[in-house]
Amino acid sequence: MYKGLTLNSEKIAGLSAREFTETELHHPDYYSWLREYDNIKYIGRYEYFLNTPFSEIESYVKGLISSNNDCFFAVYYEDEFIGTLKIGHISLYNSIADMGFLIGNKNHAGKGFGTEILRMGCRYAFEQIGLRKLEGGCFASNIAANKMFLNAGFKPEGVLRKKLKLGNIFDDHNLYGLFPEELVL
Ligand SMILES: CC(C)(COP(=O)(O)OP(=O)(O)OC[C@H]1O[C@@H](n2cnc3c(N)ncnc32)[C@H](O)[C@@H]1OP(=O)(O)O)[C@@H](O)C(=O)NCCC(=O)NCCS
Repeated sequence: MYKGLTLNSEKIAGLSAREFTETELHHPDYYSWLREYDNIKYIGRYEYFLNTPFSEIESYVKGLISSNNDCFFAVYYEDEFIGTLKIGHISLYNSIADMGFLIGNKNHAGKGFGTEILRMGCRYAFEQIGLRKLEGGCFASNIAANKMFLNAGFKPEGVLRKKLKLGNIFDDHNLYGLFPEELVL
């Protein structure tokens, strides 16, 4: 019911989030992003992405596309596919969801695209889906993701200490939450 929309940034001309389709699934960049250590080390299931054949990624993505509990977007800058945005685990009963994002094309890292895409996704989740609360989490050492949550107005809600494996150490998992009135656009 909340599929098929394109979100256009009002702040960054050319930045948009479109429904993720089989076109992006078969785009060579997508699979290669899921093989790059700097992209996947913070996604949470490093070993899964590193070893997973395309067929499993395909089945995961097709599950997201057909799911009524997830919105999966392809992020574009002009005509270039540069990343993904997910409003996941949508629970209409609790009126919550969680936010996930990847700017895979590193030519566009650090330009504010990640923050703007997160803001656009939050706005969509609150205004179009009508959710009450959004959540997110990231490795404590993932400076960009922590900043993104704070930039968009998310509040820290807890730390799961030394939960996530990162190379030879276990990193803290920082948890964030956001109510509509807290969103910073
Ligand atoms: C996290 C990610 C989406 C950030 O994308 P981005 O487009 O570079 O983000 P932004 O440009 O909006 O940057 C947000 C902030 O982090 C800073 N930043 C970006 N990359 C950084 C880096 N490698 N090291 C330190 N700071 C960084 C930016 O300068 C900006 O700081 P500011 O708020 O003080 O201006 C991207 O690095 C990524 O896809 N990483 C891998 C996947 C991932 O970690 N997903 C999140 C899982 S929860």
